[in-house]
Amino acid sequence: MQNDPDGAARRRTDAETNEAGSKRVTTRRPPSAPPIYDALAPHYERALRPLELLILARLRAATLRALSGKGAGGDSDDGGGGGGGRLLEIGAGTGLNFPHYPPGARGAATEPSREMLRLAQTKPRPAGVRLVQTNAEALPFADDTFDAAFATLVFCSVASPPKAFAELRRVVRAGGRVALLEHVRPPGLLGPVFDLISRFTVRLCEDHFNRRTADEARRAGLRIISVEPHVLGIIQLIVCEV
Ligand SMILES: C[S@@+](CC[C@H](N)C(=O)[O-])C[C@H]1O[C@@H](n2cnc3c(N)ncnc32)[C@H](O)[C@@H]1O
Repeated sequence: MQNDPDGAARRRTDAETNEAGSKRVTTRRPPSAPPIYDALAPHYERALRPLELLILARLRAATLRALSGKGAGGDSDDGGGGGGGRLLEIGAGTGLNFPHYPPGARGAATEPSREMLRLAQTKPRPAGVRLVQTNAEALPFADDTFDAAFATLVFCSVASPPKAFAELRRVVRAGGRVALLEHVRPPGLLGPVFDLISRFTVRLCEDHFNRRTADEARRAGLRIISVEPHVLGIIQLIVCEV
């Protein structure tokens, strides 16, 4: 890759780099993340634990595998961030995906919430993966910096999915993969139920329970490779190509 994520971040933003032990975190001016995530951060993993044990941990692993073509979505052998490719995570939260990164992964795990990021910083992750504080709608990286990108449970909270997808298309090289594990508006009778739930969750915690994330990705110009439904279609593993 010709672009260095950290170098690009420094060039393109008013970034500061902090030392925290041996791990560096690049921060920018406060990004526009839902402030609720700072408050949720200390309780996040405990609240998610039952789902994590039941299904999420398995789906997180499948999401990372999908980037290298070994999971849902096809036959590519590049871009997972392990075999030399640069990997980008959007909305990394407390770092629950770090154990699933390929061992030699290089790139950036981004997250707008300072408190989520603070917890992520305590988790082991591949040495070549930097933490960067930013939101998805304004990524501080040069064009074509990454070979692949992914997000888990993020697009329900993103304020502007079109802007976030436009940014993903810009920073991931042409032909690179984007894998999204998202809770979405399910099909059938559950759809209207989720429309109703969403009215409350948006007000309560800025979480959209009825997003149609695959449609948003397609509208933004990503090519959908596969959409794998889980849990009655409430969760989807969406694999796209830039
Ligand atoms: C439900 S948590 C998921 C965290 C983590 N990806 C996981 O799977 O555990 C949603 C995350 O999205 C982040 N987020 C919210 N708005 C965002 C935005 N506009 N851009 C990027 N991340 C965002 C939040 O700060 C939070 O960490």
